[in-house]
Amino acid sequence: MILLLGTPVAKAIKDECKLKIIDFQVKYNRLPQLAVILVGDNPSSQSYVKGKRKACDYVGIKHKDIFLKEDTSEKKLLTIIEELNLDDKVDGILVQLPLPPQISETKVNDAIIPEKDVDGFNPVNVGSLLLGRKSLSPCTPKGILKMLDYYGITTEGKNVCIVGRSNLVGKPMASMLIQKDRNATVTICHTHTRNLIEFTTKADILIIAVGKPSMFKKEMLKQNAVVIDVGITMVNDSSSIKGYAWKGDVDFEDVKEKCSAITPVPKGIGPMTIAVLMENTLDAALNREESK
Ligand SMILES: NC(=O)c1ccc[n+]([C@@H]2O[C@H](COP(=O)([O-])OP(=O)(O)OC[C@H]3O[C@@H](n4cnc5c(N)ncnc54)[C@H](OP(=O)(O)O)[C@@H]3O)[C@@H](O)[C@H]2O)c1
Repeated sequence: MILLLGTPVAKAIKDECKLKIIDFQVKYNRLPQLAVILVGDNPSSQSYVKGKRKACDYVGIKHKDIFLKEDTSEKKLLTIIEELNLDDKVDGILVQLPLPPQISETKVNDAIIPEKDVDGFNPVNVGSLLLGRKSLSPCTPKGILKMLDYYGITTEGKNVCIVGRSNLVGKPMASMLIQKDRNATVTICHTHTRNLIEFTTKADILIIAVGKPSMFKKEMLKQNAVVIDVGITMVNDSSSIKGYAWKGDVDFEDVKEKCSAITPVPKGIGPMTIAVLMENTLDAALNREESK
Protein backbone atom coordinates (compact mmCIF):
# COMPACT_ATOMS: atom_id res chain seq x y z
CA MET A 1 0.00 0.00 0.00
CA ILE A 2 1.31 3.44 -0.96
CA LEU A 3 0.71 6.24 1.54
CA LEU A 4 -0.25 9.28 -0.49
CA LEU A 5 1.25 11.96 1.73
CA GLY A 6 0.26 15.46 0.73
CA THR A 7 3.06 17.25 2.55
CA PRO A 8 5.92 16.59 0.05
CA VAL A 9 3.68 17.32 -2.94
CA ALA A 10 2.44 20.53 -1.34
CA LYS A 11 6.01 21.56 -0.55
CA ALA A 12 7.07 21.02 -4.17
CA ILE A 13 4.15 23.20 -5.36
CA LYS A 14 4.93 25.92 -2.82
CA ASP A 15 8.65 25.88 -3.64
CA GLU A 16 7.83 26.37 -7.31
CA CYS A 17 5.49 29.25 -6.40
CA LYS A 18 8.21 30.79 -4.25
CA LEU A 19 10.60 30.91 -7.21
CA LYS A 20 7.94 32.28 -9.57
CA ILE A 21 7.04 34.96 -7.01
CA ILE A 22 10.67 36.16 -6.98
CA ASP A 23 10.40 36.62 -10.77
CA PHE A 24 6.99 38.26 -10.36
CA GLN A 25 8.42 40.79 -7.90
CA VAL A 26 11.34 41.61 -10.18
CA LYS A 27 9.03 42.07 -13.16
CA TYR A 28 6.14 43.93 -11.52
CA ASN A 29 7.84 45.51 -8.51
CA ARG A 30 5.29 44.15 -6.05
CA LEU A 31 4.20 40.91 -4.40
CA PRO A 32 0.92 39.09 -5.08
CA GLN A 33 -1.65 39.71 -2.36
CA LEU A 34 -4.39 37.48 -0.95
CA ALA A 35 -7.26 38.82 1.16
CA VAL A 36 -8.84 36.27 3.51
CA ILE A 37 -12.10 37.08 5.28
CA LEU A 38 -13.21 35.10 8.32
CA VAL A 39 -16.64 35.71 9.81
CA GLY A 40 -17.04 34.43 13.37
CA ASP A 41 -14.76 32.31 15.51
CA ASN A 42 -15.31 28.72 14.35
CA PRO A 43 -12.16 26.89 15.61
CA SER A 44 -11.77 24.78 12.43
CA SER A 45 -12.04 27.90 10.25
CA GLN A 46 -9.52 29.73 12.44
CA SER A 47 -7.13 26.82 12.02
CA TYR A 48 -7.57 26.88 8.20
CA VAL A 49 -6.97 30.65 8.06
CA LYS A 50 -3.82 30.21 10.16
CA GLY A 51 -2.59 27.51 7.74
CA LYS A 52 -3.22 29.80 4.77
CA ARG A 53 -1.34 32.69 6.43
CA LYS A 54 1.63 30.40 7.12
CA ALA A 55 1.71 29.25 3.49
CA CYS A 56 1.52 32.86 2.23
CA ASP A 57 4.50 33.76 4.44
CA TYR A 58 6.42 30.76 3.09
CA VAL A 59 5.92 31.51 -0.60
CA GLY A 60 6.07 35.31 -0.33
CA ILE A 61 2.42 36.23 -0.91
CA LYS A 62 1.24 39.27 1.06
CA HIS A 63 -1.86 38.52 3.08
CA LYS A 64 -4.59 40.73 4.36
CA ASP A 65 -6.63 38.94 7.01
CA ILE A 66 -10.02 40.45 7.79
CA PHE A 67 -11.72 39.14 10.92
CA LEU A 68 -15.40 39.94 11.29
CA LYS A 69 -17.80 39.26 14.15
CA GLU A 70 -20.27 36.35 13.93
CA ASP A 71 -23.21 38.79 13.70
CA THR A 72 -21.76 40.72 10.73
CA SER A 73 -24.49 41.59 8.24
CA GLU A 74 -24.50 40.31 4.68
CA LYS A 75 -24.52 43.92 3.46
CA LYS A 76 -21.33 44.72 5.39
CA LEU A 77 -19.53 41.66 4.04
CA LEU A 78 -20.60 42.44 0.46
CA THR A 79 -19.35 46.03 0.88
CA ILE A 80 -15.95 44.74 2.04
CA ILE A 81 -15.79 42.36 -0.95
CA GLU A 82 -16.65 45.23 -3.29
CA GLU A 83 -13.79 47.30 -1.83
CA LEU A 84 -11.38 44.39 -2.27
CA ASN A 85 -12.62 43.88 -5.85
CA LEU A 86 -11.65 47.50 -6.57
CA ASP A 87 -8.34 47.42 -4.68
CA ASP A 88 -5.67 47.09 -7.37
CA LYS A 89 -3.14 45.69 -4.89
CA VAL A 90 -5.36 42.68 -4.04
CA ASP A 91 -5.10 39.72 -6.44
CA GLY A 92 -7.13 37.08 -4.64
CA ILE A 93 -10.16 37.17 -2.34
CA LEU A 94 -11.22 34.23 -0.23
CA VAL A 95 -14.13 34.10 2.19
CA GLN A 96 -13.66 31.25 4.65
CA LEU A 97 -16.66 28.89 4.79
CA PRO A 98 -18.97 28.09 6.52
CA LEU A 99 -20.71 31.43 6.87
CA PRO A 100 -23.23 32.32 9.61
CA PRO A 101 -26.89 31.87 8.59
CA GLN A 102 -27.62 35.58 7.96
CA ILE A 103 -25.11 35.58 5.06
CA SER A 104 -25.87 33.95 1.70
CA GLU A 105 -22.96 31.90 0.40
CA THR A 106 -24.38 32.28 -3.12
CA LYS A 107 -24.34 36.10 -2.90
CA VAL A 108 -20.78 36.02 -1.59
CA ASN A 109 -19.60 33.73 -4.41
CA ASP A 110 -21.33 35.95 -6.97
CA ALA A 111 -19.81 39.11 -5.47
CA ILE A 112 -16.13 38.18 -5.82
CA ILE A 113 -15.04 39.13 -9.35
CA PRO A 114 -13.92 36.09 -11.42
CA GLU A 115 -10.36 37.53 -11.81
CA LYS A 116 -9.82 37.47 -8.02
CA ASP A 117 -11.89 34.34 -7.27
CA VAL A 118 -9.01 32.13 -6.11
CA ASP A 119 -11.45 29.53 -4.74
CA GLY A 120 -13.08 29.15 -8.16
CA PHE A 121 -16.63 29.47 -6.79
CA ASN A 122 -17.91 32.34 -8.93
CA PRO A 123 -20.43 31.01 -11.52
CA VAL A 124 -18.23 32.33 -14.37
CA ASN A 125 -15.30 30.21 -13.19
CA VAL A 126 -17.57 27.22 -12.44
CA GLY A 127 -18.93 27.43 -16.01
CA SER A 128 -15.46 27.78 -17.51
CA LEU A 129 -14.30 24.70 -15.63
CA LEU A 130 -17.23 22.64 -16.92
CA LEU A 131 -16.56 23.82 -20.47
CA GLY A 132 -12.89 22.88 -20.13
CA ARG A 133 -11.68 26.48 -20.45
CA LYS A 134 -8.74 27.95 -18.58
CA SER A 135 -9.99 29.37 -15.27
CA LEU A 136 -9.28 29.70 -11.58
CA SER A 137 -10.61 26.39 -10.28
CA PRO A 138 -11.41 25.04 -6.80
CA CYS A 139 -8.30 24.25 -4.77
CA THR A 140 -9.25 20.89 -3.24
CA PRO A 141 -10.15 18.97 -6.45
CA LYS A 142 -7.25 20.60 -8.30
CA GLY A 143 -5.01 19.50 -5.43
CA ILE A 144 -6.33 15.94 -5.67
CA LEU A 145 -5.38 15.75 -9.37
CA LYS A 146 -1.93 17.15 -8.62
CA MET A 147 -1.47 14.52 -5.94
CA LEU A 148 -2.52 11.70 -8.31
CA ASP A 149 -0.06 13.05 -10.92
CA TYR A 150 2.77 13.25 -8.38
CA TYR A 151 2.30 9.60 -7.38
CA GLY A 152 1.89 8.45 -10.99
CA ILE A 153 -1.78 7.44 -10.66
CA THR A 154 -3.62 7.94 -13.96
CA THR A 155 -7.35 8.45 -14.39
CA GLU A 156 -7.60 7.55 -18.11
CA GLY A 157 -10.47 5.06 -18.55
CA LYS A 158 -10.76 4.43 -14.82
CA ASN A 159 -13.99 4.20 -12.84
CA VAL A 160 -13.91 7.03 -10.34
CA CYS A 161 -16.59 7.18 -7.68
CA ILE A 162 -16.98 10.50 -5.85
CA VAL A 163 -19.01 10.40 -2.64
CA GLY A 164 -20.32 13.90 -1.90
CA ARG A 165 -21.73 16.44 -4.38
CA SER A 166 -20.77 19.77 -2.78
CA ASN A 167 -19.88 22.81 -4.85
CA LEU A 168 -16.57 22.82 -2.99
CA VAL A 169 -15.39 19.28 -3.76
CA GLY A 170 -17.70 16.75 -5.46
CA LYS A 171 -19.08 18.77 -8.38
CA PRO A 172 -15.82 20.48 -9.47
CA MET A 173 -13.98 17.16 -9.01
CA ALA A 174 -16.39 15.51 -11.45
CA SER A 175 -16.06 18.46 -13.88
CA MET A 176 -12.28 18.05 -13.89
CA LEU A 177 -12.27 14.26 -14.24
CA ILE A 178 -14.60 14.15 -17.25
CA GLN A 179 -12.44 16.56 -19.29
CA LYS A 180 -10.51 15.09 -22.19
CA ASP A 181 -7.18 15.46 -20.42
CA ARG A 182 -8.40 13.10 -17.64
CA ASN A 183 -10.88 10.78 -19.39
CA ALA A 184 -12.30 9.14 -16.26
CA THR A 185 -15.73 7.55 -16.03
CA VAL A 186 -17.31 9.31 -13.09
CA THR A 187 -20.10 8.40 -10.69
CA ILE A 188 -21.24 10.89 -8.05
CA CYS A 189 -23.00 9.60 -4.93
CA HIS A 190 -24.88 11.48 -2.21
CA THR A 191 -27.43 10.88 0.55
CA HIS A 192 -30.12 9.82 -1.94
CA THR A 193 -27.93 7.22 -3.64
CA ARG A 194 -29.54 3.81 -3.23
CA ASN A 195 -27.15 1.08 -2.22
CA LEU A 196 -23.99 3.19 -2.03
CA ILE A 197 -21.76 0.13 -1.72
CA GLU A 198 -22.79 -1.02 -5.20
CA PHE A 199 -21.07 2.05 -6.64
CA THR A 200 -18.10 2.36 -4.30
CA THR A 201 -17.05 -1.27 -4.83
CA LYS A 202 -16.84 -0.68 -8.61
CA ALA A 203 -14.42 2.24 -8.26
CA ASP A 204 -10.76 2.05 -9.24
CA ILE A 205 -10.41 5.42 -7.53
CA LEU A 206 -12.70 6.36 -4.66
CA ILE A 207 -12.87 10.03 -3.64
CA ILE A 208 -14.77 10.62 -0.42
CA ALA A 209 -15.87 14.08 0.72
CA VAL A 210 -18.67 13.52 3.15
CA GLY A 211 -17.62 14.79 6.59
CA LYS A 212 -18.56 11.65 8.57
CA PRO A 213 -15.53 10.36 10.50
CA SER A 214 -14.47 6.75 9.77
CA MET A 215 -17.67 6.01 7.82
CA PHE A 216 -15.90 4.05 5.05
CA LYS A 217 -14.89 0.49 5.89
CA LYS A 218 -13.10 -2.14 3.83
CA GLU A 219 -16.28 -3.84 2.57
CA MET A 220 -17.11 -0.61 0.72
CA LEU A 221 -13.95 -0.82 -1.45
CA LYS A 222 -12.82 -2.81 -4.42
CA GLN A 223 -9.57 -4.75 -3.86
CA ASN A 224 -6.57 -2.50 -4.70
CA ALA A 225 -8.63 0.67 -5.06
CA VAL A 226 -6.97 4.07 -4.68
CA VAL A 227 -8.64 5.92 -1.81
CA ILE A 228 -8.67 9.71 -1.54
CA ASP A 229 -10.03 10.77 1.83
CA VAL A 230 -11.02 14.43 1.64
CA GLY A 231 -13.08 14.44 4.84
CA ILE A 232 -11.59 16.07 7.88
CA THR A 233 -13.51 16.46 11.10
CA MET A 234 -12.33 17.62 14.52
CA VAL A 235 -13.27 15.00 17.12
CA ASN A 236 -12.74 14.89 20.89
CA ASP A 237 -9.68 12.85 21.80
CA SER A 238 -8.73 12.58 25.46
CA SER A 239 -5.46 10.78 24.54
CA SER A 240 -4.19 13.89 22.73
CA ILE A 241 -2.62 16.81 24.65
CA LYS A 242 -4.78 19.18 22.62
CA GLY A 243 -7.94 17.26 23.61
CA TYR A 244 -8.95 16.81 19.97
CA ALA A 245 -7.85 15.01 16.82
CA TRP A 246 -8.59 15.30 13.09
CA LYS A 247 -10.41 12.32 11.52
CA GLY A 248 -11.03 11.43 7.90
CA ASP A 249 -14.15 9.84 6.39
CA VAL A 250 -12.27 6.57 5.90
CA ASP A 251 -11.45 4.09 8.64
CA PHE A 252 -7.75 4.03 7.74
CA GLU A 253 -6.75 1.04 9.88
CA ASP A 254 -9.64 -1.04 8.54
CA VAL A 255 -9.01 -0.36 4.82
CA LYS A 256 -5.21 -0.04 4.63
CA GLU A 257 -4.57 -3.69 3.68
CA LYS A 258 -7.22 -3.69 0.96
CA CYS A 259 -6.39 -0.53 -1.00
CA SER A 260 -3.37 0.01 -3.25
CA ALA A 261 -2.91 3.64 -2.16
CA ILE A 262 -4.55 5.93 0.38
CA THR A 263 -4.27 9.51 1.64
CA PRO A 264 -3.78 9.94 5.39
CA VAL A 265 -5.75 12.42 7.51
CA PRO A 266 -4.22 14.79 8.46
CA LYS A 267 -1.29 15.46 6.05
CA GLY A 268 -3.16 14.18 3.01
CA ILE A 269 -5.44 16.43 0.97
CA GLY A 270 -5.42 19.35 3.47
CA PRO A 271 -1.89 20.59 2.60
CA MET A 272 -2.67 20.18 -1.12
CA THR A 273 -5.64 22.54 -0.86
CA ILE A 274 -3.49 25.25 0.70
CA ALA A 275 -0.62 24.78 -1.78
CA VAL A 276 -3.04 25.10 -4.73
CA LEU A 277 -4.48 28.24 -3.15
CA MET A 278 -0.98 29.74 -3.33
CA GLU A 279 -0.73 28.69 -6.98
CA ASN A 280 -4.17 30.14 -7.79
CA THR A 281 -3.26 33.45 -6.10
CA LEU A 282 -0.07 33.68 -8.12
CA ASP A 283 -1.98 32.81 -11.32
CA ALA A 284 -4.57 35.49 -10.52
CA ALA A 285 -1.79 38.04 -9.97
CA LEU A 286 -0.04 37.09 -13.22
CA ASN A 287 -3.32 37.17 -15.20
CA ARG A 288 -4.14 40.59 -13.80
CA GLU A 289 -0.70 42.02 -14.59
CA GLU A 290 -0.64 40.48 -18.07
CA SER A 291 -4.07 41.91 -18.92
CA LYS A 292 -3.06 45.49 -17.94
N1 LIG B 1 -8.90 18.59 3.25
C1 LIG B 1 -9.40 19.66 2.65
O1 LIG B 1 -8.71 20.51 2.15
C2 LIG B 1 -10.88 19.78 2.56
C3 LIG B 1 -11.46 20.68 1.68
C4 LIG B 1 -12.84 20.73 1.59
C5 LIG B 1 -13.62 19.91 2.39
N2 LIG B 1 -12.99 19.07 3.25
C6 LIG B 1 -13.75 18.15 4.10
O2 LIG B 1 -14.48 17.26 3.27
C7 LIG B 1 -15.72 16.91 3.89
C8 LIG B 1 -16.83 17.27 2.95
O3 LIG B 1 -16.82 18.66 2.72
P1 LIG B 1 -17.92 19.38 1.84
O4 LIG B 1 -17.76 20.83 1.99
O5 LIG B 1 -17.90 18.78 0.49
O6 LIG B 1 -19.23 18.91 2.67
P2 LIG B 1 -20.78 19.11 2.43
O7 LIG B 1 -21.05 20.35 1.68
O8 LIG B 1 -21.40 18.92 3.77
O9 LIG B 1 -21.16 17.88 1.50
C9 LIG B 1 -21.15 16.59 1.98
C10 LIG B 1 -21.65 15.68 0.89
O10 LIG B 1 -21.63 14.35 1.39
C11 LIG B 1 -22.87 13.74 1.08
N3 LIG B 1 -23.18 12.77 2.13
C12 LIG B 1 -23.34 12.97 3.45
N4 LIG B 1 -23.60 11.82 4.08
C13 LIG B 1 -23.61 10.86 3.14
C14 LIG B 1 -23.84 9.47 3.16
N5 LIG B 1 -24.11 8.82 4.30
N6 LIG B 1 -23.75 8.79 2.00
C15 LIG B 1 -23.48 9.42 0.83
N7 LIG B 1 -23.26 10.74 0.75
C16 LIG B 1 -23.33 11.45 1.90
C17 LIG B 1 -23.90 14.86 1.05
O11 LIG B 1 -25.00 14.47 0.26
P3 LIG B 1 -26.27 15.44 0.02
O12 LIG B 1 -25.81 16.42 -1.03
O13 LIG B 1 -27.33 14.54 -0.48
O14 LIG B 1 -26.57 16.09 1.33
C18 LIG B 1 -23.08 15.98 0.44
O15 LIG B 1 -23.16 15.96 -0.96
C19 LIG B 1 -15.72 17.66 5.22
O16 LIG B 1 -15.19 16.82 6.22
C20 LIG B 1 -14.78 18.82 4.98
O17 LIG B 1 -14.19 19.30 6.16
C21 LIG B 1 -11.66 18.98 3.34
